Amino acid sequence: MTTIDTDPDTGLDPLEFAVTRNLAAKSNADRDAILASPGFGQSFTDHMVDICWSVRGGWHRPRVSPYGPISLDPAAAVLHYGQEIFEGIKAYRHADGSVHTFRPDQNGRRLQRSARRLALPELPVPYFLQSLRELIAVDGAWVPSGEDQSLYLRPFMFAKEAFLGVRPAHKVAYYLIASPAGAYFKGGVKPVSIWLSEDYSRAGKGGTGAAKTGGNYAASLLPQSEAYENECDQVVFLDQDRNVEELGGMNVVFVYKDGSIVTPQSDSILEGITRDSLLQLARDRGHHVEGRNVPLTEWREGVASGDIVEVFACGTAAVVTPIGTLKGRDFIDEQPSGTLALELREELTNIQYGRAEDKHGWLYRLDA
Ligand SMILES: Cc1ncc(COP(=O)(O)O)c(C=O)c1O
Repeated sequence: MTTIDTDPDTGLDPLEFAVTRNLAAKSNADRDAILASPGFGQSFTDHMVDICWSVRGGWHRPRVSPYGPISLDPAAAVLHYGQEIFEGIKAYRHADGSVHTFRPDQNGRRLQRSARRLALPELPVPYFLQSLRELIAVDGAWVPSGEDQSLYLRPFMFAKEAFLGVRPAHKVAYYLIASPAGAYFKGGVKPVSIWLSEDYSRAGKGGTGAAKTGGNYAASLLPQSEAYENECDQVVFLDQDRNVEELGGMNVVFVYKDGSIVTPQSDSILEGITRDSLLQLARDRGHHVEGRNVPLTEWREGVASGDIVEVFACGTAAVVTPIGTLKGRDFIDEQPSGTLALELREELTNIQYGRAEDKHGWLYRLDA
């Protein structure tokens, strides 16, 4: 059990996790074989964390158990009404062997905002942080040490009460699983092609777009298939006023020729932690940064006139991806290529992997 002090901000005592070791844990050789080429989201570590919540008992029964199937009543509300939220965050191994994650307080707070919107209970941030540490305490050897490799951590929460009435569930489960992740781009970062979704939207005004909830991703799958049919890698969504929102799983950022940086901001967009960090690094370099509506016409005309000099997407999984092409039903706009996206990517990953000074105090050690 990791010893953690009472949280100074919330006064919460740490949870006492019951730890059951996985007797069928992978051998070192099997684990090393997986870590040599982990891909993304395919293999999982030996353990998982879960914490129960009920209206009566609050957060209780924190456990670390062998990774395995979850038993659910067929009437569990999540299976019918999709009351579910999740997070995505990575653990990085530094050259001295230590394991760190990046701005986990931000993920913990975003999980709380998602919970509020989905009428789920808010997991206190100190419990969220403790869950990450507990899993690393047993599965730390799963954090790979290869270039651009990481352990992807997937916290999630869902309504498990067996009840078919439509109301917020009275019983909920929080889980944390982890999956080793390889370099997203083998052989260097490549610009992606983006399909403009005209027929489908991801989120609506007052909807769940700003929450990290499964339904948003379910809604993005058909337009993503349309993107593939049109030989594009990703899809970009517009809002009802034809402002640019985001990709299915990444935020979008525009760089202007005067050095200013603009990113779509509205209550239907997920507030990316990668974006926030990159924009801070850009501010540190003296760039003016603005979050506001970006009409599609501004994007297309800006590229045509040369006002926009670079467009990139960002998120935890791929970090930063330059956008090479925007394709719509009746146009293909080649996007200008610049150097800022890749410079910021390098700067951010250098901090995450402990190769550069962490001036903003973004790193959080998980294995001590
Ligand atoms: C829809 C969506 N937008 C943006 C992001 C970027 O968020 P973050 O940088 O916190 O990973 C994600 C997740 O990666 C996402 O799923």
